[in-house]
Amino acid sequence: MRILVTGGAGYIGSHTCVLLLEAGHEVVIVDDFSNSKPEAVRRIGELAGRGAELAEVDLLDRASLDDAVAEAGPEAVVHFAGLKAVGESVAQPLRYYRTNVAGTLNLLEALAPTGCRTVVFSSSATVYGPEPQLPLKEDAPTSATNPYGWSKFMIEQILADLHAADDSWAIATLRYFNPVGAHPSGRIGEDPQGIPNNLLPFVSQVAVGRREKLSVFGDDYDTPDGTGVRDYLHVVDLAAGHLAALHRLVEVGGHHVWNLGTGQGRSVFEVIAAFERATGVPIPYEVTDRRPGDIAASYADPTKANQELGWTADHTLDAICADAWRWQSQNPEGYPD
Ligand code: UD1
Repeated sequence: MRILVTGGAGYIGSHTCVLLLEAGHEVVIVDDFSNSKPEAVRRIGELAGRGAELAEVDLLDRASLDDAVAEAGPEAVVHFAGLKAVGESVAQPLRYYRTNVAGTLNLLEALAPTGCRTVVFSSSATVYGPEPQLPLKEDAPTSATNPYGWSKFMIEQILADLHAADDSWAIATLRYFNPVGAHPSGRIGEDPQGIPNNLLPFVSQVAVGRREKLSVFGDDYDTPDGTGVRDYLHVVDLAAGHLAALHRLVEVGGHHVWNLGTGQGRSVFEVIAAFERATGVPIPYEVTDRRPGDIAASYADPTKANQELGWTADHTLDAICADAWRWQSQNPEGYPD
């Protein structure tokens, strides 16, 4: 198939593009490089032995997007592009709603006149809100606590309404838990600009000497060791989940929501220990106050994706840490400009 991948140069997008190309699909990346580098696109081609096409377009530039979509002639779209920093979204709500929600509307409107009605959307377990019933199933109540989360919530609703209005649209909403790790080659990985918000990138940067120590955001949660518990899944497993969802969607159509997670909760202290074990590098840390907006624990019930997609996230936390470290140690400053 010809597949348009928005945000294809980003962290999850780049891993998904490699797998799509390896599976024999043609890939057209739409990316504005606002939070990614062209070098990622080059390395996708290097890993897959075959390049992706590239359209450097901002989803908010409607005329250029229409042209890029028409020229690409996709049969399906995997939509990653969007802003994703929770704290920044609280400070800049309009920018988040504009980029994420209006960007998605532009994309869907650009697709409408083409024959392409198949969309896989990058959502987040953040839509389960502040008091999740664990383990999280897809029919759990949804809400949000910040503009980033609300933007994912709103886009999910838009996609559901679109399918309800016209069931020739085939839609998969994928709710990711915590994507971590890197391609086992060490050639592509997560390259956060500025100070990392998320745990694994911060730990990796401490290990490589870019940061002095990790702040553990609270050890007084109601969890086994008091630190926050999350469901960390290998980004290559997550990328494979997109292929499985896409292939299923092409077979059966419809509108589906799938959790992509391991089903296992791991604490911050368990992540630190796994990273030290996998790399032999000690991670200095101090326990600080809780981060506003954090919840004690979140992990998936991935049964629906396991059964309907024949997909599981089976990389261990140790494998995840080893791969994250290979990427970080080989690319201490991330991708070159
Ligand atoms: C965060 C976002 C979530 C988003 C996801 C994207 C918040 C509140 N939530 O999820 O909406 O979908 O990223 O990947 O930002 N931790 C530390 N020290 C750090 C960083 C994190 O102790 O320097 C802890 C956190 O308190 C948490 C765990 O590590 O218990 C994981 O944090 P993080 O990687 O930021 O992911 P989430 O908070 O689950």
